[in-house]
Amino acid sequence: MLEKIEKLTEEIKSLEAANADALEALRIKYLSKKGEIPSLFNDFRNVPNEQKKEIGQKLNVLKNFATEKINSLKAAFEEKKNDDETIDLTRSAAPAQLGTRHPISLVREEIIDIFSRLGFTLAEGPEIEDDWHVFGAMNFADDHPARDMQDTFFISRNPADILLRTHTSSVQSRTMEHSQPPIRIICPGRVYRNEAISYRAHCFFHQVEALYVDKNVSFTDLKQVLLYFAREMFGPETNIRLRPSYFPFTEPSAEMDISCNLCGGKGCAFCKGTGWVEILGCGMVDPNVLEASGIDSKTYSGYALGMGIERITNLKYRVKDLRMFSENDMRFLEEFESAH
Ligand code: DAH
Repeated sequence: MLEKIEKLTEEIKSLEAANADALEALRIKYLSKKGEIPSLFNDFRNVPNEQKKEIGQKLNVLKNFATEKINSLKAAFEEKKNDDETIDLTRSAAPAQLGTRHPISLVREEIIDIFSRLGFTLAEGPEIEDDWHVFGAMNFADDHPARDMQDTFFISRNPADILLRTHTSSVQSRTMEHSQPPIRIICPGRVYRNEAISYRAHCFFHQVEALYVDKNVSFTDLKQVLLYFAREMFGPETNIRLRPSYFPFTEPSAEMDISCNLCGGKGCAFCKGTGWVEILGCGMVDPNVLEASGIDSKTYSGYALGMGIERITNLKYRVKDLRMFSENDMRFLEEFESAH
């Protein structure tokens, strides 16, 4: 009996089956009612009592071993079968989910694109700035309210005034101090102001600044560029109007409105019935600004303009709450999937 158990154990160790039928045949041979192992259990009756314990244990081990072996052969089969079935080489690939460009980036790129067609090149400056580049060189009076803690985030006041820039106009002074005209730059960037956050104000936002300095630059040049920009950005039907305004760094200064792109200028709730919406500030660079950065204001003149990217984005995509731009809500961002 012991010999037989050993012989069967060896046999079962090396069992192999080429297909499901062969495996079933093996199962019948070893484990079915009349199979080899159950018949050993039948013979067990005749084993002398003193050997029953040892042989009984070995028989059980053999039976478990055979069952496991058959099951594992079967599992291997099934795995193989599944593999064969799941590889469908004709199936099209699952689409990879693409990220979306942020609306602010989309509009920034579009603005840069329009100005680069007019020969403007990209210029950038630091977000952490000093008082001189943000205010001093830009002709702000010493007691201008923007220099107050209430309006500007100061990083240190002594010895030097270091602050977060409140506008991208600082890139004008940075560029002019190390280059001579002709200068034709477009400067996108993030700016910071000490404002309570609400749907219409944020403590940081984005601007684009444009500066052109050369001989004989006139207000007419500025107007042409503004009209070109407005029509490229908002469509060929767009009209512009300039309203006199004041900025320390330009003289004369103006604010530009475009004909409301929602009602086409007829007047609606969005433009408060006026038919116009404001989009940017501009003007002829004040001679003081040119001189402060080492450019001869008798030989050269220039124009500058600055706009908020959020404002342009709101007009283009009707985003009503400024906070949406920095909340990273996927439902909002995914709406711009098709915009690029
Ligand atoms: N820096 C101004 C602001 O933050 C915007 C601006 C107005 C920029 C007129 C200019 C300009 O270059 O000429 O409100």
